[in-house]
Amino acid sequence: METILELKNVSKSFGPVQVIKDVSLKVHPGKVQALLGENGAGKSTIIKMMAGVYQPDSGEIIVDGQPVRFPNTKEAEKYGIATIYQELNLVPSMSVAENIMLGRTPATGGLVNFPELKRQAQEALDVIGLKVGLNDVVGDLGIAKQQLVEIAKALSMNARLLILDEPTAALTSKEIDQLFRVIDHLKTQGVGMVFISHHLEEIARIADSVSVLRDGQFIAEVPATTPEREFVKLMVGREIDEQYPRVKGDIGEPVLEVHNISHAQHFENISFQVHAGEILGIAGLVGAGRTEVIRAIAGADSYDSGRIVVHGHLLPKGNIAAAIKRGIGLVPEDRKNQGLILDAPVSDNIGLATLHSSGKWGLADRGGQRRRAKGVAEKLKLRMASIDQPVRDLSGGNQQKAVFGRWVMAQSQVLLLDEPTRGVDVGAKVEIYNIINQVTAQGGAVVMVSSDLPEVLGMSDRVLVMSGGKIAGELPPTASQDDVMSLAVANVPDNVATAPTPNLRTLEI
Ligand SMILES: Nc1ncnc2c1ncn2[C@@H]1O[C@H](COP(=O)(O)OP(=O)(O)OP(=O)(O)O)[C@@H](O)[C@H]1O
Ligand SMILES: [Mg+2]
Repeated sequence: METILELKNVSKSFGPVQVIKDVSLKVHPGKVQALLGENGAGKSTIIKMMAGVYQPDSGEIIVDGQPVRFPNTKEAEKYGIATIYQELNLVPSMSVAENIMLGRTPATGGLVNFPELKRQAQEALDVIGLKVGLNDVVGDLGIAKQQLVEIAKALSMNARLLILDEPTAALTSKEIDQLFRVIDHLKTQGVGMVFISHHLEEIARIADSVSVLRDGQFIAEVPATTPEREFVKLMVGREIDEQYPRVKGDIGEPVLEVHNISHAQHFENISFQVHAGEILGIAGLVGAGRTEVIRAIAGADSYDSGRIVVHGHLLPKGNIAAAIKRGIGLVPEDRKNQGLILDAPVSDNIGLATLHSSGKWGLADRGGQRRRAKGVAEKLKLRMASIDQPVRDLSGGNQQKAVFGRWVMAQSQVLLLDEPTRGVDVGAKVEIYNIINQVTAQGGAVVMVSSDLPEVLGMSDRVLVMSGGKIAGELPPTASQDDVMSLAVANVPDNVATAPTPNLRTLEI
């Protein structure tokens, strides 16, 4: 079979730590090669070597049968290699059009040709049928739309090898369908793709062949039709019995009471209670107002009317410090922008919520903090070289675990989780669920917003479904995914509920 790109026995170390060991891999035209492995297994590092972000220490990159070197990403782009990174790479303060055309701004006589810039950017959006304004500021878009803008951008570069590092992590099922239609079309055009996802059912749907990595080593290459249990065994090295190990305990008194809160444009008349020992799931479509509600509870945003009470105490509006004092912890959906200080060490990131309270006589207890952070990291099996490593250098899933770890360390009594396992591998998910179980077993109350329907149904004791800023209904965990979806679209106007159809005619490779 013809090969677009081949990695031959590549290895890569960061400092003393070897993270890729002698890995070989081929990508063929018109085929999707999936990379599968636990958090920190080395998937992103592999694709960054294909894209010119990192250079292998040894081994070869071969394109069209010729050894090549990619000293930088521009060089890889010249060979038609386009990459969508796991962590979004858009400039939040710039417009959609500027982001798509970044580095390729059309100019006439030294001046930016804005009409042409907009025309090309619009064409890129049309390819995936994305309806956003060209002048919209990217930072104001939801994370799903930002992801699609990034995909539109990559596709517009006439890629022959498209690398997608967890492109579906922040997308809804409709948006995933849309992306997969685009991928299917690209296959017919002979584009080769590398696809990374922690959702095994997606791999079966879209990939042709799967390379499994463990601890930076190549384990096996198997067909995408391999049963999921086999995939798990290959990547984790053991079987996982229970994917959603919810342990129900006694449900106690209300811990968190939300009384009729409203925030213009965001949500309306939201009321619910969460009891000691309970996990309340919140399902709904992206844009249903789920994130806004839990941000309001966490004091991250204010609201217009209503009351929030924790353990009988009224919470002041929009006051994060007061919320933390009452034992509220928020794991936000956008870990990179809202959750982490990327250049600070893992220990500081995990200890962020407790640094002040753990100090004696007003002095921050740094040694103690570091020790406790280490304990939490071990509990979460966080994969890192050292607790003093900047969080930026952790793999995506391990960054997510670090945000989660912060509130475990703070022993939050009210844990607000927004897509808590996004980007987390199947084994580590179970570790996170077990820790959530411990929180409820100790009388904590948990609110879990999740777009992962099996997760929200598998781990919650009750599920609220939000739609168009309102609560559309409450379901028991025995409800079906279809039950959730029919409530989720209850208050959504048609134009939002139906995903735009991709306009594949404008796609030219
Ligand atoms: N710039 C860096 N400096 C130091 N270590 C790094 C750097 N980049 C990655 N690593 C380490 O290399 C290992 C592999 O990371 P990588 O991001 O490739 O994992 P991954 O398979 O993509 O995981 P995930 O599923 O969590 O995204 C991790 O242990 C990570 O901490
Ligand atoms: Mg990764």
